[in-house]
Amino acid sequence: MFKKIKKQALIVATVSGLLTSLQADAQSSSQGKGLKDYYQSYFPIGVAVSPASLKDTALRALILQQFNSLTPENAMKMGPIHPQENRYYWDNADAIVAFAGANGLKVRGHNLCWHEQTPAWMFIGEDGKRVSKEILLKRLKDHIQTVVGRYKGKIYAWDVVNEAVDDDSTKFLRNSTWYKICGEDYIYEAFKYAHEADPNAVLFYNDYNTERPEKRERIYRLLKKLVDAKIPIGGVGLQAHWSLYEPSQKELIATIEKFASLGLKVQITELDMSVYPWEKQSRALHAGESAEFTPLLDQKQADQYRMVFEVFRKYKDVITGVTFWNISDKHTWLDEYPVRGRKNYPLLFDQQNHPKKAYWEVTRF
Ligand code: GLA
Repeated sequence: MFKKIKKQALIVATVSGLLTSLQADAQSSSQGKGLKDYYQSYFPIGVAVSPASLKDTALRALILQQFNSLTPENAMKMGPIHPQENRYYWDNADAIVAFAGANGLKVRGHNLCWHEQTPAWMFIGEDGKRVSKEILLKRLKDHIQTVVGRYKGKIYAWDVVNEAVDDDSTKFLRNSTWYKICGEDYIYEAFKYAHEADPNAVLFYNDYNTERPEKRERIYRLLKKLVDAKIPIGGVGLQAHWSLYEPSQKELIATIEKFASLGLKVQITELDMSVYPWEKQSRALHAGESAEFTPLLDQKQADQYRMVFEVFRKYKDVITGVTFWNISDKHTWLDEYPVRGRKNYPLLFDQQNHPKKAYWEVTRF
């Protein structure tokens, strides 16, 4: 196999992109080494998955070769797993946990309390009106203790509260329905409930744009309150939905150091590197807007990935996990968001699941 690929590669030596990709495949398959092996003495390397991806032969092989930790992309979110007050839907979450167990992979649970993908019933009482704080906290407790309890000992880390800090830099906490009914107490209580259900699980607060100085400060303010109140929080998740344009090395380092100064661990929980500048609002494709992954973008992305992984390795005492959000460019949530139908190429593997230039940059050290 290796010889054949090498010969082929020589024939097309003038086509440098193709050559690189053929050599890359040959190297990766001949050595059988994956990201998890390069980073064995650093931190686990994870990936967000759906149950369907675990049934796809090619994706399953890629996952097992490259990664040693899984995050359910959607299966454990409150809406999918707890669609009605007295009904849980376990099949998808169970399938992911069983696959991880059978193959010796870790599992990060994601997530227990968020303002999105929360079922409508959670906030509504029998009278059709908004529930009281007391009832909502009771429901939150039941939810967290049932889900965390079911996977006790099988899930080593949980994103307990997701994205509680507002996008508006002049505000502090997001004015979500959780906040409207409970004030900030829901955040404190969520961590306590999760800790009661599994005292060994490491509990995280998880958010995005954590490297932007103004948001970093507001997240720090929340984390400090939790730490000062002796809430059982073990770490902070940097979602890391990044791009060719941000973060800078300086911003990334400042964030890691600032959060670590509270005694918290840091995990990179949803890493991808969009080739477009960040846009918050969902929108449709403009006429004439197209999306091609040019050699220039390939190179810029490799440079940005190299930079962030250099930082991760340097801070390996603080960083306890790095997880990618989706497996390869064949499927990424960024194909639909924020611009519906605009192809994006944010991961280390291309649409044929082959390693990209960025892959070799993060494994060559
Ligand atoms: C947030 C959530 C993730 C996922 C992404 C978009 O970052 O934490 O679970 O929904 O948005 O895919």
